[in-house]
Amino acid sequence: MQRLTNKQIILGITGGIAAYKSAELTRLLKSAGADVRVVMTPSATEFITPLTLQALSGNPVHLHLLNAEAEAGMGHIELAKWADMVLIAPASANFMARLASGQGDDLLTTLCLATEAPICLAPAMNQAMWRDNGTQNNTATLTKRDVKLFGPGVGEQACGDNGPGRMLEPEEIANHAAEQFESGALTGKTVFITAGPTREPLDPVRYISNHSSGKMGYALAEAAIEAGAKVKLISGPVNLPAPARLECISVESAQDMLEAAQTDLALCDIFIAAAAVADYRPTAISEHKIKKGSEEIMELHLVKNPDIVATVAASSPKPFTVGFAAETRDILDYARSKLARKNLDLIIANDVSRSDIGFNSDENAVTVVSHSGAETLPQTSKRKLATLLIDKIAAQYHHKA
Ligand SMILES: Cc1cc2nc3c(=O)[nH]c(=O)nc-3n(C[C@H](O)[C@H](O)[C@H](O)COP(=O)(O)O)c2cc1C
Repeated sequence: MQRLTNKQIILGITGGIAAYKSAELTRLLKSAGADVRVVMTPSATEFITPLTLQALSGNPVHLHLLNAEAEAGMGHIELAKWADMVLIAPASANFMARLASGQGDDLLTTLCLATEAPICLAPAMNQAMWRDNGTQNNTATLTKRDVKLFGPGVGEQACGDNGPGRMLEPEEIANHAAEQFESGALTGKTVFITAGPTREPLDPVRYISNHSSGKMGYALAEAAIEAGAKVKLISGPVNLPAPARLECISVESAQDMLEAAQTDLALCDIFIAAAAVADYRPTAISEHKIKKGSEEIMELHLVKNPDIVATVAASSPKPFTVGFAAETRDILDYARSKLARKNLDLIIANDVSRSDIGFNSDENAVTVVSHSGAETLPQTSKRKLATLLIDKIAAQYHHKA
């Protein structure tokens, strides 16, 4: 269930008797760390009140499509983009029919059309409704469209019948939802990831650093865990909580970071250098705080820092090494030359001159440059981008291996 941590889940509730179980499902998803936004069909509100779901999810419940106020808040397209998964539990026979025929006649169906996130259904209906040819055809259509089905289970039903059509228990649904976030692409592999800035001290209270927030590296670490990897995250000073299920080593300077990167490097299959490492550090660190003097200009003497990613790429055995190129101009040219010069396997280039993406932002857009070509991934959240990047890194790693 840990794979639900920080996942953004839309829980769609449709008009079935099992809607009362959606309250427990909301609670379970929330306690597993997911951010849950509930969307209800008008029929669903006859079975359970939005107020209950609002209290349990901690978010307003979304009910209407054609509502100016709701659209001005988090509109249907924004909701569709926000979601990492759209989970509909219970999914009524009627809802499945509407989804299978591509309708967008209410908020939930429209959102399903608009989202690129995976859609998962937990069907819940009377056994005869489930067995009906119409429902079976709709199920086949939806499965062909990559919609995932959780259940239904078999057993005693609210109407007294016995057979297939029971909604799975909330715990089973939450477990299936968590499984969807596991790719297994890096199962058994060890991944080292550096993240955040470095701090190069001048004296006991001052340092040279940069604006890196660490968000990209941390998102990559979470995505690598979800892909089944064992992860060592080597982090400069950031304001982010350490993700669960990984070894997190906190460092300050570039030299500390290199030392942590080289420790057990022989065990590392993939090295991802997402940290913004200072190229230079002060030649000397003053033992005491440097005092303001009478001089108008102060000179700082700097010395080159070790190049962490190049050092790793030059080691033997060499892990599959991925670098980042944060540039403000001629991005692709710089990325290609860095790839060759540092003997990297892959480089992820991004434009840090844009204020809407990159450093300190929650979003990014990158170009993945390999020895065989380049592919641009359009702007999206760093979390979503991280999943895409880990998939690409895993594919290239396995191709090379
Ligand atoms: C008491 C009652 C219970 C119902 N339970 C279910 C159910 O479990 N599954 C189902 O598919 N439909 C069930 N229905 C029928 C749906 O509520 C109906 O098809 C409705 O139009 C579904 O709307 P929606 O898919 O937009 O939520 C039930 C109806 C009633 C009156």
